[in-house]
Amino acid sequence: MKFLPHLFENNKTWAKETELREPGFFKTLSEQQNPDYLWIGCADSRVPANEIVGLKPGELFVHRNVANAVVHTDLNCLSVIQYAVDVLKVKHIIVTGHYGCGGVIAAMSNTRLGLIDNWLRHIKDIQHKHQEQLREIDDLELRQDRLCELNVIEQVMNVSQISIVQDAWLRGQELQLHSWIYRVSDGRLRDLKNNINNGEEAVDIYHQSINALLNK
Ligand code: CO
Repeated sequence: MKFLPHLFENNKTWAKETELREPGFFKTLSEQQNPDYLWIGCADSRVPANEIVGLKPGELFVHRNVANAVVHTDLNCLSVIQYAVDVLKVKHIIVTGHYGCGGVIAAMSNTRLGLIDNWLRHIKDIQHKHQEQLREIDDLELRQDRLCELNVIEQVMNVSQISIVQDAWLRGQELQLHSWIYRVSDGRLRDLKNNINNGEEAVDIYHQSINALLNK
């Protein structure tokens, strides 16, 4: 007896339909991957990377974790970025947060969830860093939304400071960093307009983006 038979059925149907729509699709895919984009997003089941941006298998390199954090000592995330930049030569790294992020909301509350509390410390640090801006917002939901946005800006700043990314820029490799946020309730992506194209402009753009949120 197969476990989870409905998932195998779904897979069979999907593989068949994909091949019918595009004969040879899987064979071509098995020979190479050549994605232009690295997506760093939340592990949330409601934020499926490929589907949101309408990209097929092979077109998007993906790393997901709770609250789309880029931590300088996270070997997993660093390895994904290194492989994407040095080997696949992606042209864009997109950090995508989402409103109503459970990780961000948990970081803002003082409830104990277990091991994950330690991971969420990184988000709590961002909350502390921007507590003045956050304190100005009375409405809890809007305050959570703002921390979701600040989290994306901060994580993109982290990406820009990684040696792998800095080295790519120094050798003239084309690499753009983008900061997006997704709203589960309408299915739409928003660009936080915090785009970084080289190491020199990273810090200035970061400050501009934080100020833009402050004056929103
Ligand atoms: Co989330």
